Amino acid sequence: VKTVLVIGIGLGEPQHLTLQAVEALNRVDVFLVVEKGSTADELGAIRRSLCERFATSRPHRFLSLADPPRDRNSNDYKTAVDNWTAARAALYADVVRRDLADGECAGLLAWGDPAFYDSTLRVLDAMKATGDLDVHIEVIPGISSIQALAAAHRISLTGVGRPLQVTTGRRLAANGFPDDCDDVVVMLDGGAAFRHIDPTGLWIYWGANLGSERPSLVAGQLDEVAEEITVQRSLARAQRGWVMDTYLLRRRRVSQ
Ligand SMILES: C[S@@+](CC[C@H](N)C(=O)[O-])C[C@H]1O[C@@H](n2cnc3c(N)ncnc32)[C@H](O)[C@@H]1O
Repeated sequence: VKTVLVIGIGLGEPQHLTLQAVEALNRVDVFLVVEKGSTADELGAIRRSLCERFATSRPHRFLSLADPPRDRNSNDYKTAVDNWTAARAALYADVVRRDLADGECAGLLAWGDPAFYDSTLRVLDAMKATGDLDVHIEVIPGISSIQALAAAHRISLTGVGRPLQVTTGRRLAANGFPDDCDDVVVMLDGGAAFRHIDPTGLWIYWGANLGSERPSLVAGQLDEVAEEITVQRSLARAQRGWVMDTYLLRRRRVSQ
């Protein structure tokens, strides 16, 4: 049997690696590195350096794969994503067939935790669905930007017995803050969606480049700190060339 290990690595900070992740890194024969360009190059370099530092108990190799192109201009978002998923699945299937010997283990390193806005497990499901591969898939959880954000602000994300919604900047901008939930974590927000919603009664706990040497944190009443976040975001982008941010929006009920 061949094995694919999906290893959540946290946010690049070596101390985010769990002992389970380190153990898993040391089982890998072939690390699959998907090259995407720009921001991802730096994230790719971080992944490689984690392997070099922690996967030391046995020899391993790296296999670079070119990411299949994705049609980002298509009006049909779902079809574009489905096509890309199928192309990635075919790429992984080729690797498993051609580059992995029976009994060997391939490793895919997922940024944060693979459970949040990460395509790896969806692609591997599509790969398995193609039918003829005898491959075992294991997942090692990692520290997500969601947990890193909560820890950095020293907050719990959930009210007592209350739900938490995790969503994207695009959805928040399109739908506004939900009526039926007081705590919303927003990811994948390239357009500062928090500036496009009604800020009444909302607090924000914002963090950028968490797990890096220079994280940025801002918290406060949304209408009072939105401008500061915009400035901090630009500064973080200027320093590093890119920025990744996550935030919690919390509605403060009068009784809270
Ligand atoms: C493709 S998703 C991957 C999320 C990842 N699987 C996780 O568990 O955090 C990328 C989004 O995660 C968030 N993110 C990733 N790294 C981050 C970081 N270092 N600091 C803050 N947010 C981050 C941002 O919202 C970014 O747009």
